[in-house]
Amino acid sequence: MRFIVCSDYAEMCAECTKQISAQIILKPNSVLGLATGSTPIGVYENLVQLYQNNELDFSGVTTFNLDEYYPISADNTQSYHFFMQSHLFSKINIKPQNIHILDGMPADIEKECRDYEKAIVRSGGIDLQLLGIGKNGHIGFNEPGKNLNATTHLTDLTETTIESNARFFKNVNEVPRKALTMGISTILRSKKIILLASGFEKHMAVQSLLTDNINTQTPATMLKVHPDVLLICDKEAYEG
Ligand code: GLP
Repeated sequence: MRFIVCSDYAEMCAECTKQISAQIILKPNSVLGLATGSTPIGVYENLVQLYQNNELDFSGVTTFNLDEYYPISADNTQSYHFFMQSHLFSKINIKPQNIHILDGMPADIEKECRDYEKAIVRSGGIDLQLLGIGKNGHIGFNEPGKNLNATTHLTDLTETTIESNARFFKNVNEVPRKALTMGISTILRSKKIILLASGFEKHMAVQSLLTDNINTQTPATMLKVHPDVLLICDKEAYEG
């Protein structure tokens, strides 16, 4: 795994924006795997800016988001559907039919997960997967100690994750207890992976990722088996 330590959040976002822009310029029909959470927001702002400056064209780009709460409707303001529309998709020229996000209210959960995997394969596979990291080392919603060779599946969220994500909801009781997520196997099939980590609260997870052997208590360590992973973090996340 390669890593870049940036001085602050803005520099981390600028570095990641460079990588994603290069991907789209070199391959205009790229398939991107996208993440939610507060960490990638600055990257999405930069991408919107590049689009507005006519420096990036998203018309050939296809996207697959990592995860979605369950149950949640797409128009709920806390859904990842809503997050992606407001931070990125409504502000760029991506074709709606090229956007893929797991349905948070599927009639048939297993079919939803199977179809998502098939759609990724049909698209030619994810060229570049963007990831954040949970305080407990989760990626997507692949929580510690779970079946970490899974493909897309329904999972229970840990108390740590529910508490961390409560900041986006009115109170902790409103945070869904479950989510649909790409599995570690799905993520590892991406051709290239960029993992972002910012701030002191991610230090333990970053340290574990860089120093521990692969283990299921820090799901991000599973990325060590992938040949092309780039960790971009800021000083606070790196040094603590
Ligand atoms: C959620 C998402 C993850 C994200 C994590 C960290 O749990 N499912 O994909 O990486 O939060 O979020 P943040 O960037 O807000 O710290």
